[in-house]
Order: sequence, then C-alpha cells, then structure tokens
Amino acid sequence: MDYSKTKPESIQYLFGNIANKYDKANAILSFGLHHFWNKKLVKELSSQKRKTYLDLCSGTGEIALRFVQSNPDSKKIILLDFCKEMLDIAEAKFNKPEMPKNIEYLVADAQKLPLDSKSIDLISMAYGIRNVKAPELAIREAYRVLAPGGKIAILELTKPDNRLLKFGHHLYLKGLLPIIGKFITENKKAYQYLCESIHQFVPPLEIKNKMQEAGFQQIKIKKLNFGIATLITAQKTDE
Ligand SMILES: C[S@@+](CC[C@H](N)C(=O)[O-])C[C@H]1O[C@@H](n2cnc3c(N)ncnc32)[C@H](O)[C@@H]1O
Repeated sequence: MDYSKTKPESIQYLFGNIANKYDKANAILSFGLHHFWNKKLVKELSSQKRKTYLDLCSGTGEIALRFVQSNPDSKKIILLDFCKEMLDIAEAKFNKPEMPKNIEYLVADAQKLPLDSKSIDLISMAYGIRNVKAPELAIREAYRVLAPGGKIAILELTKPDNRLLKFGHHLYLKGLLPIIGKFITENKKAYQYLCESIHQFVPPLEIKNKMQEAGFQQIKIKKLNFGIATLITAQKTDE
C-alpha cells in the first residue's frame, strides 16, 4: 500500500499496522529525545486548577499519560484518534487501578471533532498535525471546542535550520530511519512515509499563520534541539 495524507484511510491503515510496535520504535528512532519534548509540551499545559483536557491524534496515549501523571485531578480527559488500534493500546495503559476513571476514548477525525463548542480547557497535539490532510481544519476545530482562556500546545518534528545539522538530519531521515524502522516494525514503507511527511511538513511559521487566521492569540514558537522538533503554544482569549 502507498501511504499519503491525501488518502486518510492509508494513514489509518499505517498506524493500525504498526500500533503495537509504535512506542518501542519511537523511543529507538528518536534516541529517547521525544521524552524530553513530550515533557516540555505537558509542562506548557499543566495547571493548578481542575481542567477538561483533550489530546488530539493521541495515538498510544503517551502524551495524555504524562499529562494525567502531572495533573491527576483533571476534570475530564479525552483521547482522540482516528485509528482504533492506537487508541486500544492507550486504553490498556490507563486501565490500571491507580489511574483516574474520567477518561474518554474517541475514534474520530481531528478535522471534525464530535465535541461541543467551548467545552475544552486544554488541548495537546503531538506529532499529529503533519499527518492531517487539512491542518487548517484541525486548527479551526481546536479553536471552536476551546473555551475562552483555553490553551493549545502543538508539538511536531521539523527540519533544523543549521545547514550542517540539516544535512545530517536528511541522511538520518532518508537513509537510516526507514532501515531501523523496518527492523523494528517490519514495515519499511510506513517509516518511509513518516520521513517524507517531515520533509513535506508545513513549516512552523505557516502553522502560526493558520492559528492566527483561526483566531488564536499569544502564539509562541519554541525550537527544540536546534529545530529537530518544534513546540507551538497559543491561547483562545476571545469569546
Ligand atoms: C505519529 S502518531 C502520534 C501519536 C501520539 N500523539 C504520540 O505522541 O506518540 C500520529 C497519530 O495521529 C493519528 N491521526 C492522523 N491523522 C488523524 C486525523 N485526521 N484525525 C485523528 N487522528 C489522526 C494517527 O492515527 C496516529 O495515531
């Protein structure tokens, strides 16, 4: 099968196919750096007050899990992904006595959220936006469901600016990553798609513009590890 974000069913199939190996592959392929990036994202959203939290493109729930650990008395936690196999793995992680019970799993499209307007306080989206066919739709939907005063944090793998780093990064993505990815998941094409999706990814400044157009304010872009990953945060301040 050929994977392309213009064919969402191929992306669903891809993640369904690698779901049970996703966490292991992620840890190896990012050299563990994603733990540090994920931590940064969750820190941006952590709050003293009880909040309703939505994790978009939640996958195997690593971000939501980290969020729950640092915000154990959240009002409600929603994990949303259009790939059921990924969410099933997330659900197994939360299915423990010490975990809160106010968790909902939604198999749905981030571009058409089955949620009421202004019903959510905090939104995260990690490594998801580059897979979405129309990122502006997902951003607009996130804005719609956020309550005034709400906050969003989008984390994504990006291309570094530094020329030397760019070259090394390119070699890693084109050469090494699909090969290691194939050994871990037995699916070279899936990892080829993931590498290509980083190259084709909408640059952070374009994401910022799309967020501005949707109505977001206080948009901040933070480069992580020289731009290998980028964290974008923003608020909905208006009614
Ligand atoms: C690279 S994984 C990231 C998973 C997780 N956020 C993490 O931090 O590991 C991308 C996830 O986005 C989901 N996804 C892609 N497009 C989507 C869409 N339009 N709606 C909902 N989920 C989507 C995929 O099914 C996949 O689970």
